Amino acid sequence: MFEVLPPLPADPILGLSAAYKEDQNPKKIDLGVGVYKDEQGNTPILKSVAKAQQILLDTETTKTYIAPQGVSGFLSGMKELLFGANHPAILEDRITAVQSPGGTGALRLLAELIARGNPEATVWVSDPTWANHIPIFETAGLKIEKYPYFDKESRGIRFDAMMETLLKVNKGDIVLLHGCCHNPTGQDLNQAQWQAVLEAAQKTGFVPFIDVAYQGFGDGLDEDAYGIRLLSENLPEMILSASCSKNFGLYRERTGMACVVTASNEIRRNLQTQIQSVARANYSMPPSWGAALVDIILNDPELKALWQSEVSEMRNRMQDLRALLVKKLQEKGAAMDFGFVTQQKGMFSFLCISPEQVQQMRAESAVYFVDSSRVNIAGISLSNVDDLAEALVKVL
Ligand SMILES: Cc1ncc(COP(=O)(O)O)c(C=O)c1O
Repeated sequence: MFEVLPPLPADPILGLSAAYKEDQNPKKIDLGVGVYKDEQGNTPILKSVAKAQQILLDTETTKTYIAPQGVSGFLSGMKELLFGANHPAILEDRITAVQSPGGTGALRLLAELIARGNPEATVWVSDPTWANHIPIFETAGLKIEKYPYFDKESRGIRFDAMMETLLKVNKGDIVLLHGCCHNPTGQDLNQAQWQAVLEAAQKTGFVPFIDVAYQGFGDGLDEDAYGIRLLSENLPEMILSASCSKNFGLYRERTGMACVVTASNEIRRNLQTQIQSVARANYSMPPSWGAALVDIILNDPELKALWQSEVSEMRNRMQDLRALLVKKLQEKGAAMDFGFVTQQKGMFSFLCISPEQVQQMRAESAVYFVDSSRVNIAGISLSNVDDLAEALVKVL
């Protein structure tokens, strides 16, 4: 039966990684895949995570299934991290939450939950957005539309056009927003813009869905939760998916959380049974290890402080690299002002050059990144920044 299925084109990012591995150029630079890297190009296990793993090894007594909703200390710790300790929805027990296999798993569970609640809902995504958003929602049977977001010409948000679209969205539709560190552009909403999004939701009745995969990588753990807190404190309903892949460095442990802030404790309790039945039909019980580590870290003041300092270290390194790249480009006489790169947040930026220029950098200087011109800032290092700046200046 499977002979009827045609082959699909290779994933552009995974194809790029394979080409990078095969390249023999000793000066090759990888700015493709979205994982944090240190100065040596490694993706290390955080010290806080290594310590939590030792504690877990010493204390774990069984491998029986965990509860369907996940590790309870993980769920409470994550809710506090995202919403803030004294959030009314936490105090009133109005947040449905399940542990999920990564942020992707959370998105998928929530997409199916939306399809159960309102199969006619359209999901509005930013143009552009993370490459996996559209397939996740489409696979759950939902319609997708795009709202204007990034303008490569002005290198900023097309906020008027975005708002014009959002103000026409139907009641009950879903508007997907990036909580912070927009992937792929690095261009985030400011506080006034979040306020305008809130007012649009209040006016039209759309339900915001915030995806947060980089909390702490933008301006700080609390600062990056500004939009989440503003919208969830002022609207009856909000959907949220969170990933621990980047800020805890737990990529392969597949650790995330799916949440819905509801209008009442009764709705929360009903919805909890629904989301758990979606999870049950997909993979039954969540995996334990990654969430158990986050539980240990967030609920031990010393380990939490260590983890917070490690998140700050990663954030500061990326901010420094942004500034350094822009400085080097200026010094080398770049025929374009890249100052916008220092205004953008998190792991990614669009360099705003053409696909032909990206390909030329790959062919002539072994600098690997996707044709959209999205670069992983963490792939830059003190040892490759000069080569990178020279390669970029050459193609401008
Ligand atoms: C915007 C966004 N959402 C969700 C995810 C999913 O992360 P995870 O690896 O935890 O599934 C990513 C990962 O790159 C992302 O960039």
